[in-house]
Amino acid sequence: MYQIIDGKKISQEIKDELKDKVAALKAAGKNICLAVIQVGNDPASSVYVGNKKKACAYIGIESLSYELPEETTQEELLDLVKKLNADDKVNGILVQLPLPKQIDEEKVIQTIAPEKDVDGFHEKNVGALVVGSKGYVSCTPLGIIQLLKRSGIEIAGKNCVVIGRSNIVGKPMSLLLLRENGTVTVCHSRTQNIREITKQADILVVAIGKPKFVDESFVKEGAVVIDVGIHRNENNKLCGDVDFERVAPHTSAITPVPGGVGPMTIAMLMYNCVSSVE
Ligand code: GUN
Repeated sequence: MYQIIDGKKISQEIKDELKDKVAALKAAGKNICLAVIQVGNDPASSVYVGNKKKACAYIGIESLSYELPEETTQEELLDLVKKLNADDKVNGILVQLPLPKQIDEEKVIQTIAPEKDVDGFHEKNVGALVVGSKGYVSCTPLGIIQLLKRSGIEIAGKNCVVIGRSNIVGKPMSLLLLRENGTVTVCHSRTQNIREITKQADILVVAIGKPKFVDESFVKEGAVVIDVGIHRNENNKLCGDVDFERVAPHTSAITPVPGGVGPMTIAMLMYNCVSSVE
């Protein structure tokens, strides 16, 4: 029988731990403030931003909300980011991605002050992760490490395979697994004979962005499978990058969609916000 890794429960534990920490910080006269910027009104982004603001309220973090119109220029957005960089009251700045096409995402990310980059996307924070020094780490991969650790899953010495090489998930995921002493392989769209590689995985992290891409032919018997994807299927039901029904019986532990990795991203954003003042 396999274990279902309960991201909802684990994220709630983390949020409750953070709530206590924030109360103690407040008692010591330290407030935390996160600025959240959304450009346009992509419905998925609105849901994510709403959930981030709700989590802030729950934990006791002040959130400042900036909802800018779709036609906002790059200069206008950069001006706002620079204003927030200079504002001592603001500890963290989050610009929800994706941004409208007239705006250069990379330029915006690199303009956020690294010490306020609670998403961990700035080159300085990515570089810190590479060399193993202190810095913010991207929330989704950070949350996956917590899911594994809090479910009693050992990483050291294990064969870890990551499918996907994005800056937000795949690359930082591979570096975090390496930091935990896993033996790490990264697969992507150009990987040949991918199943030969994924079949070696003790821990398989799937962040390819394709609904139900991974079936049982990718998975070694008894592996741990982490599904980062979230999609709507033809019946408007949520599904991941992994075909859960087919894969789960072959695993020792697996994350569901929804209720697996998703809630962890927000919990770790809150963690990063709290570490901004600690
Ligand atoms: N869009 C999808 N995931 C993320 C995330 O983790 N941070 C931000 N800022 N935007 C996103």
